[in-house]
Amino acid sequence: MLQRAVVTGASSGIGAATVRLLAELGWSTVAVARRADRLAALAAETGAHAIVCDVTDEAQVAAMAREVAETGGADVLFNNAGGALGTESVERASNDDWRWMFEVNVIGLRTVTAALLPVLRDAARAHGWASIVNLTSTAGHGSYPGGGGYNAAKFAARAVTEVLRLELAGEPIRVMEVAPGLVHTEEFTLNRLRGDAESAAKPYADVVPLTAEDVARVVVSALEQPPHVNQDLIVLRPVAQSSVFHTHRGPLTPKA
Ligand SMILES: NC(=O)c1ccc[n+]([C@@H]2O[C@H](COP(=O)([O-])OP(=O)(O)OC[C@H]3O[C@@H](n4cnc5c(N)ncnc54)[C@H](OP(=O)(O)O)[C@@H]3O)[C@@H](O)[C@H]2O)c1
Repeated sequence: MLQRAVVTGASSGIGAATVRLLAELGWSTVAVARRADRLAALAAETGAHAIVCDVTDEAQVAAMAREVAETGGADVLFNNAGGALGTESVERASNDDWRWMFEVNVIGLRTVTAALLPVLRDAARAHGWASIVNLTSTAGHGSYPGGGGYNAAKFAARAVTEVLRLELAGEPIRVMEVAPGLVHTEEFTLNRLRGDAESAAKPYADVVPLTAEDVARVVVSALEQPPHVNQDLIVLRPVAQSSVFHTHRGPLTPKA
């Protein structure tokens, strides 16, 4: 295998942790996000090839795909860029917030995938296989009050993943979905709550959540399976979170 992975949303959280882990394991990586300074720091640390690109901008995505092709290609695409904005009800939500969530989590994922499929096919021709991993969420599998736009976007990202797997049938390209529950990353909830740090700390209070590194390990373990093994869907949650509605706070103790 070629072992060069394009990771979107690599400037923080799960994306950055995945670039770090892949680099430790000897992979080449291409780190994609909008913030050049963060990507430059990650590139200096890991040797990643950094490409500044907004996944919602088709021209930037096309240029990114050309640069990936010209600098060695890729046999893995990790569609991780995404996020949530707001916790308002369906009744009170802002369409602008919903549009942002659809643009990045769904249309951005589609645009990047379409632009890089020729590159992945070239890798599959030369090296036998290629892989696409889409990072959705348990929010794409179960709805919750206030989840509206994010639930809808991640349900849609999940649907796109399933359709893509059907459409690529017969090609040596696996299509996998990784759906994490509560992950404590530096920016996700802070961005969702528009910078309100006090409220953003609450979901992680008195609970052991997943870390970005936990999710990265699961993503990488899916990639490390023999290339004919397609793990369609991997759902991972912290032990303390048995469903989207059940998060145990306080110590976990065996029952008497
Ligand atoms: N944290 C959780 O609890 C959790 C749980 C399940 C699923 N997820 C999903 O996991 C993924 C990563 O989340 P995270 O927790 O690591 O959050 P994060 O730290 O906020 O990371 C989001 C990444 O996406 C990038 N991004 C956002 N908009 C972009 C755009 N238009 N173009 C290119 N890159 C863009 C951001 O970089 P720039 O701002 O530099 O562009 C950042 O690197 C997301 O898809 C999220 O929905 C998170």
